[in-house]
Parts: sequence; C-alpha cells; structure tokens
Amino acid sequence: MFGKCYSGSMRILGIETSCDETAAAVVSDGRVLQSNVIKSQIDIHAQYGGVVPEVAARSHIEVMLPVVNKALSDANATWDEIDAIAVTHAPGLIGSLLVGTLTARTLALIHKKPLYPIHHIKAHVYANFLLEKPPEFPILALIVSGGHSQLVLFQSHSDYQILGRTQDDAVGEAFDKVAKILGLSYPGGPSISKAALNGNPNKYPLPKSKLQNPLDFSFSGLKTAVLRAAQHSVGKDYTFPSHQLAALLTDEQRNDFAASFQKVAVETLVDKTETAYKQYSPASVVIAGGVAANRELREQLSKHLSIEINYPPMELCTDNAAMIAALAYYQADIEPATDPRKLEVFPSLSI
Ligand code: KG4
Ligand code: ZN
Repeated sequence: MFGKCYSGSMRILGIETSCDETAAAVVSDGRVLQSNVIKSQIDIHAQYGGVVPEVAARSHIEVMLPVVNKALSDANATWDEIDAIAVTHAPGLIGSLLVGTLTARTLALIHKKPLYPIHHIKAHVYANFLLEKPPEFPILALIVSGGHSQLVLFQSHSDYQILGRTQDDAVGEAFDKVAKILGLSYPGGPSISKAALNGNPNKYPLPKSKLQNPLDFSFSGLKTAVLRAAQHSVGKDYTFPSHQLAALLTDEQRNDFAASFQKVAVETLVDKTETAYKQYSPASVVIAGGVAANRELREQLSKHLSIEINYPPMELCTDNAAMIAALAYYQADIEPATDPRKLEVFPSLSI
C-alpha cells in the first residue's frame, strides 16, 4: 500500500472540497492532466454575498460521486488504472473538508489504493508543475487566495520556508469584502477587476501598510480605507452602515473605487515579490491561488521582475483537484501513504 508504483506511469485521482468547489481530476506522473472536473457552487453562494459553510458541505455531498465518476470517465480510466488517491485534508471549511476526505477514505478502502492527504495551499503552487515548462528550484511562490497571502521559498519539494504572510485579511478576502461594500457581485476578484477596467485608478489615493517584516502582508487597513473614502464620497461619516453604501454610489464612483483599490492591492503584491526576488535570487517565480487569475497582477509582475513567469490557465488558478493530484505525485516520494481509517482534517493548518 505504500510508496510509488514504478511499473510505468503513476496515475493519481485527486479530490478537492475545501471550500465551495467540488473537484476531481486524474493526473499522470504529476505532470500530465488527463481530466479536470470542477463543479462550482458560486451561483448558490452569490445570493448570500459569500460562502455559507453548511450549504457548501451539503452541496459537496450531492455532487461528490458524480464528479469523481466524471473525472475517471473523462480520463478514460478504470479503477484498476488508478494508482493512488489524493485528497485535500487542510486547510478549509471543516464540513467541506469532511465530505472530500470521507469520500477519499472510503474509495481508498474499497479499491485498495494508497491514500495521500494534501495541503491545499501548498497544492496551489503545484498547478505550475502542470505547465509545459515546470518551474525550477529554488522557487519563489506568491500564494494569493481567498484565505492566504504568503511568499514562500521552496528549495525542494520538501524544504521550504515562509518569507512573509498576512497579518490580517488575505488579499482575496479583501477583494471579496471591498466588492461587497461597492455592491459588486461575489466573488469579488473577478467583479472588481471587471469594474476597474472602466475606472480611474488614481481617483482615490489609498494607503499601503508598513510592516516590521517587509515581506509580510496586511490588507485590512486598505479595505477600511475604501470604506471610509466611499462613505465620504457620498457625503456621510464613518458611522454610516457599510451595507447601505452601495445603493448611494454612482457607477462611476464604483468603477473608480474598484480601480483605485486594485491598483494598491496589486502594487503591494508586486513590491513584496520584487523585494523577495532581489533578496533570494530564485530560479523560478510562480503565482498560485485564485488571485493569480488577476490580469493586472500578471501584467505588473511581468513588468517589474526580470524573469519570465509562466502562469497557469484560470481554471488551474482557482480551486481544482488537478493541483492536488500533482502535489501527491511528489509527496509520494517523501512521505508514506496514510491509513485511510486514520486520515483527519485540519481546518486551519499552516503550510
Ligand atoms: O484559491 P481560491 O479559488 O480559493 C481559496 O483557496 O481561497 O481563491 C478564491 C479567491 C477569492 O477571494 C476571489 O475573489 C479571488 O480568489 N479571485 C480573484 C480573481 N479571481 C478570483 N482576485 C482577483 N482577481 C481575480 N481575477
Ligand atoms: Zn484555494
């Protein structure tokens, strides 16, 4: 049950349910994507302006097995042709993680497959190993998702150090919260970048936080600055309820706030990545996580760093199971498979 199968290629079935995407994928040798099925719950949660954990868990249950079956049939794979199962066990919403891990544990027992528990945030970095030109160590990774903002330096698959992390809100969370203030739809990242296309990024000067460790992040002050400036722009003071603001903003103000916020958020990410790049001279730089889908961030990073950056396609930036299966291939070299009866979930485990 342990270790890699060396008779030809190794096909891994990945399962991901840490937040609001139910996903399964088959990846061969950590490199070749054979199927990638993602069932998003965005439509269900959009009406609440954010993910409702209980609803997310229930929705995962409804589609989990059809998603796994589709991943197998899209890859043209029978269970006999699957060498291992990998599943996200940390971090994430506890109810959501439980659906994926219980499914994976059961399938591993029934089909007698080695099972690998995978860290979701580390896996985001491994979406880059699915590219035609995979990154080379040492790798500087800017990890920017709804729950995390981190700069991590990987010396190898097993040796990595966190250079900086967020002290409060993650950058994706800031996009989501600012979108809510402005009355833009959930998730905030795509709707803010769309609104920003028609806005003036220099209209509202917003602050950048200064931190003791220059590679740490803080986005909560920026979010509050948008709120205060928006209250001011409609002639109200700080006591005015944020949920009533959107109705008073004009489209022009909304677009200008979106552009001004995005400019500062992106500049902050680019400045810190550039600082880390100069300090550590990595062989590759990668961006991982949902915010990596941001076009402005991609353009600015490419402009500021004297190194070519290859970006995963959008569907591999946001949550997916291909990255889970990709990481599992390398993890199988370092760690033994886990006992399916004992695999646990860790909702807030750091990378
Ligand atoms: O990695 P991900 O799919 O889920 C987590 O692990 O959190 O990231 C979701 C986050 C959300 O906060 C969403 O607003 C943000 O990624 N996001 C974006 C864009 N697309 C998604 N942020 C900025 N620009 C985008 N185009
Ligand atoms: Zn994620």
